Amino acid sequence: MGTVLLGNLEFEPFIPKEEILEAITLLAEKINRDYQGRKIYFIGVLNGSFMFASDLLKQIERTCEISFVKVRSYEGTQSTGTITEELGLQESLEGKDVIVIEDIVDTGNTLEYLYGRFSELRPASLEIASLFLKPDAYHKSIPVKYVGMEIPNDFIVGYGLDYEGEGRNLKDLYKLKQ
Ligand code: IMP
Ligand code: MG
Repeated sequence: MGTVLLGNLEFEPFIPKEEILEAITLLAEKINRDYQGRKIYFIGVLNGSFMFASDLLKQIERTCEISFVKVRSYEGTQSTGTITEELGLQESLEGKDVIVIEDIVDTGNTLEYLYGRFSELRPASLEIASLFLKPDAYHKSIPVKYVGMEIPNDFIVGYGLDYEGEGRNLKDLYKLKQ
């Protein structure tokens, strides 16, 4: 794995795909245990979570459905703090056991926004599954019950995550070269 150039920035190898998939297997096992006898209603947050959602759901052994919403908060390598909803939820969540699938929780602005929106729809339960979490950046109080990996406060790309729209197709995770 060499470095990768996206736009004007250089990224270096960070976490290989094998490690990502191992973390997802552990998450799926936990969810399978916790939701015995219950149907899960997953909501994937586009665009970043599409690969994670795909690999996670293949290992879910409970009855489930999935739907997607699309929001945007990032410009370049910075969170803007303003959330734009580009594709909303069409389905009712009332009485459902909902798990939101996020690629990464960084400042938590997106999560706080979505959590607020979804809890108003009166689900039976509402949990978050995020593949990555940056503990040094996250200062919100919403509990992220299912975390794949905690990572330092670096800007990362690959496995669904992008820089200016590019890099989502990379199988492994890369971080911005210092
Ligand atoms: P937050 O609102 O600051 O928590 O950021 C949430 C969204 O910004 C994530 O769902 C990602 O789509 C994007 N994001 C946050 N950190 C990164 C990163 O390091 N690389 C690429 N995208 C990121
Ligand atoms: Mg996202």
